[in-house]
Amino acid sequence: MEKVLVIGACGQLGSELTIELGKLHGDENVVASDITKPNAAIRKFKFEQLDIMNVTQLNAVIENHQITQVYHLAAILSAKGEENPQWAWNLNMTGLLNVLEAAKTYKLNKIYWPSSIAVFGPTTPRTNTPQDTVMDPNTVYGISKLAGERWCEYYFEKYGVDVRSLRYPGLIGYKSLPGGGTTDYAVDIYHKALNGEPFECFLSKDTYLPMMYMSDAIKATIDLMEAPQEQIKVRSSYNVSAISFTPEQIVKSIQKEIPEFSATYNPDFRQAIADSWPDSIDDSVARNDWGWQPAYDLDKMTRTILEGLPELLESFQKV
Ligand code: NAD
Ligand code: SER
Repeated sequence: MEKVLVIGACGQLGSELTIELGKLHGDENVVASDITKPNAAIRKFKFEQLDIMNVTQLNAVIENHQITQVYHLAAILSAKGEENPQWAWNLNMTGLLNVLEAAKTYKLNKIYWPSSIAVFGPTTPRTNTPQDTVMDPNTVYGISKLAGERWCEYYFEKYGVDVRSLRYPGLIGYKSLPGGGTTDYAVDIYHKALNGEPFECFLSKDTYLPMMYMSDAIKATIDLMEAPQEQIKVRSSYNVSAISFTPEQIVKSIQKEIPEFSATYNPDFRQAIADSWPDSIDDSVARNDWGWQPAYDLDKMTRTILEGLPELLESFQKV
């Protein structure tokens, strides 16, 4: 019987992943936590208001709930990180080290920690970026994720901590709002389209980036965490990939469903971040090691979001 702690459970990924972990392990065996108060999506779970910078608090939560697995999702993402680099570095690094130390001390069964395509940089091969390649991130977020990958491998090699990780591309879901990334436009755009409003994009129309629908991201995460230990050969972080598109292509995909939708382009500081990241990712190592396979392309994702979002917004109004 696993007892699972999700740290950063109120975020874009945590709000959806926590629900799926409840289905896998039983809702009563999942403890959601965040520095904020619980949101509507995860209110049914046991909840601990936890600041990941506070080791005493973290250890108390692990002891009190007899935690055996941690999903550590709390982080400051790329765009927000550039606004306050020292704060982002401190939170992203200290948070991870606190979790890895707790895993070692309490002999936890498994740790999940997400990395990102932000570990790549301007001189990384841009197209079909390999698993092992040049990594020269130039955002504090990317630097912290690359350092985090090294720490994960270190704790696995030195202390046998079973830590597993994925380099997510931009994640797109409609059940929660994003928290300060460069790929957030691809979430906001659906809300504007359904409100009948035009969309102003903070990236240029031809900025091609790797992306993934949230259901695929959750499937990848759970598949990785449930795979037998001997199949996990990469202990830094696995490349995973699903779709790549530009803002102009997502607009065209939405226009197939809502023909009157329109967008304008007004790039800001996030353009430079996007320009330093790959176009597309080679995830053949993940496919070979533990059978990764995405299910959503751009049009399937668009149809799913445009069908599901109105119902979700209506249910919020009823609460
Ligand atoms: P998010 O910003 O939506 O959520 C992060 C959560 O962490 C928030 O609920 C926040 O309140 C919480 N948090 C912040 N500081 C905390 C602290 N001190 N203690 C405890 N909780 C704290 O981010 P997300 O999009 O859900 O991303 C989750 C993870 O996935 C992050 O590690 C991120 O780097 C990674 N990731 C996300 C994407 C993406 O496109 N969303 C892509 C690649 C990697
Ligand atoms: N989607 C994330 C961001 O834009 C990448 O990790 O910050």
